[in-house]
Amino acid sequence: MCGIVGAVGSELDLVSIFEGLRRLEYRGYDSAGIAVIHDGELLTARASVARESMDVLASWLAERPFRKGEVMLGHTRWPTHGAPTLANTHPHLDCHGDIAVVHNGIIENFRELRAALIERGHRFGSDTDSEVVAHLMEEALGEGLLPARALEHVFVQLRGHMALVVALRFEPRLLLGIRRTSPLLAAVGEGQAFFASDAPAFLSLAEQFYEVPEDVAVVLGNPIAGDQGLSVGDLEPLTVEWSSQDAVLDGFASYYEMELHQSAEALYDTVSALMDGNRAPVIDQLRIDAYELARVRKVVIIGCGTSYHAGLVGRYLVEHLARVPVEVDVASEYRYRDPILDADTLVIGISQSGESLETITALRDCQVNGARTIAITNVIGSQLSRVADGVLYTRAGPEISVASTKTHLAQIGALAMFAIYLGEIKGTLYPDEAKRRRQELAEMAPLIRTTVEREGIWRGVVEQYLLLDRFFFIGRNLLYPVAMEGALKMKELSYIAAEAYPAGELKHGPIAMLDEQAVVVALLGDDRLHDKMLSNLEEVRARGAKLIVVAPDGDQSADDLADAVLRVPPCLALHAPLLMVLPLQVLAGWMAKVRGLDLDKPRNLAKTVTVE
Ligand code: F6R
Repeated sequence: MCGIVGAVGSELDLVSIFEGLRRLEYRGYDSAGIAVIHDGELLTARASVARESMDVLASWLAERPFRKGEVMLGHTRWPTHGAPTLANTHPHLDCHGDIAVVHNGIIENFRELRAALIERGHRFGSDTDSEVVAHLMEEALGEGLLPARALEHVFVQLRGHMALVVALRFEPRLLLGIRRTSPLLAAVGEGQAFFASDAPAFLSLAEQFYEVPEDVAVVLGNPIAGDQGLSVGDLEPLTVEWSSQDAVLDGFASYYEMELHQSAEALYDTVSALMDGNRAPVIDQLRIDAYELARVRKVVIIGCGTSYHAGLVGRYLVEHLARVPVEVDVASEYRYRDPILDADTLVIGISQSGESLETITALRDCQVNGARTIAITNVIGSQLSRVADGVLYTRAGPEISVASTKTHLAQIGALAMFAIYLGEIKGTLYPDEAKRRRQELAEMAPLIRTTVEREGIWRGVVEQYLLLDRFFFIGRNLLYPVAMEGALKMKELSYIAAEAYPAGELKHGPIAMLDEQAVVVALLGDDRLHDKMLSNLEEVRARGAKLIVVAPDGDQSADDLADAVLRVPPCLALHAPLLMVLPLQVLAGWMAKVRGLDLDKPRNLAKTVTVE
């Protein structure tokens, strides 16, 4: 994972470039480092203070007697190889301190490369896989290769998925970048050019973004005549729709809270972009025509974490609305299951970032096996969007907090729009019914807004349970994935034990864990399973566990059983996941807050997971 940035220009404002790196902190925050080329010198600073490394680097920069530089590299780390120590923090240098490298991804064959380099006399300062690149570059340049050629020569020796940015002290007017699967963008601003793992780094400085192609060195700045490699003029321009303002905290204490409050807009913008004023579908980017969709006999949905949970909700939507069988799996498992696929299978890969390696590689495997594929992603031009045959974009805007909130609702919105469209094609929905359903979905936005506004009321109701630390989440039917999402949010934000079960499963084992110290959060839907759910709540009550019920306004059937009831507005049973997940997201945030934890940067995590 990790975030990398690089900048080159005759008068780089080092503080603004550093702020760009800071915006990528969501990609990893166990340690961070920078390298600066100034007046012929290559200086580095590193910090490995979890979540505070950026502040240490900012102070280092502030203490420098200069404000400008010619080249800057930056790295923010989520460790894969080597503990988050100072020595393992990027940038990594060659033996002479002339070549600086930042790296995102994994070099699978680094052990053999490192052993061979040591045998050839190289000394290593870290345990990372990344450092081999600096030493290999040293050798390639020593053999007389020009910079871009040298980088490509090194890159073919590296196995795995990765992105690299390389700076050379003796060539302060150029910067090199290369990638395979892992993300890397190039960008140009006034008198300066950049590389970054993700666009938010330089939204305020860059005028145009470009996609770095795979396996070819890209040279920014002043390429050396005769050197191979591409410069920005050869690259494909990229549309970046988000503005720098979108990524700025807007009076909230955390991105998590701000983004949770942006859920209504995220759903509305996603849904409304997929229909026209007449509520007919707008599916320009689906790139799989109605004829092909009519042939689909099985839908497979894959994703990781929160995206997987949206996929589970999607299963109910597609099966109910389009009457097509749906299989859902976590991408990292699906890929190795030897799945049965053919041209009549449609695979939907869901990924907020569009970068989760497992989702990308699983989707690619499905294509190789003959399936048609669609990406649901929040990032325009992301890897997943390019790998898939077609795309449905979620329009949630940038999500900075590591724990997903608004994008989860947007993913469910996109899946619902797809299910309606497929239902229309399959003839399970009449066009008028499809239009009505699209309208109903868009109308969920104001309900989401008023639901989030209830957080103050919910807080009063559950305050006394915030210090308990054994939680169970239960739901039935399409509220079961919501329970799973509630448990995931609780675990990742507050580090306490939280498990999710289909309510009917509780009595098949987990009920043995219930006692006075356990809290059960139950999602009581307004559907055909309502009464069965009530029986499950009785079972919980009888074991003495604390019971928090999430129920629609007006449903008082669980009031006598529950210790606390969190109310949400009533809505169609099919849309209930969009509302019922909100109190669970809010609850997880409070649990983290009372424990003094960072809502945006939970320990051991990163926003995008580009390793297997
Ligand atoms: C949890 C969370 C993660 C992500 C997962 C997949 O709050 O955010 O579980 O959902 O890492 O990430 P994407 O959707 O970017 O593929």
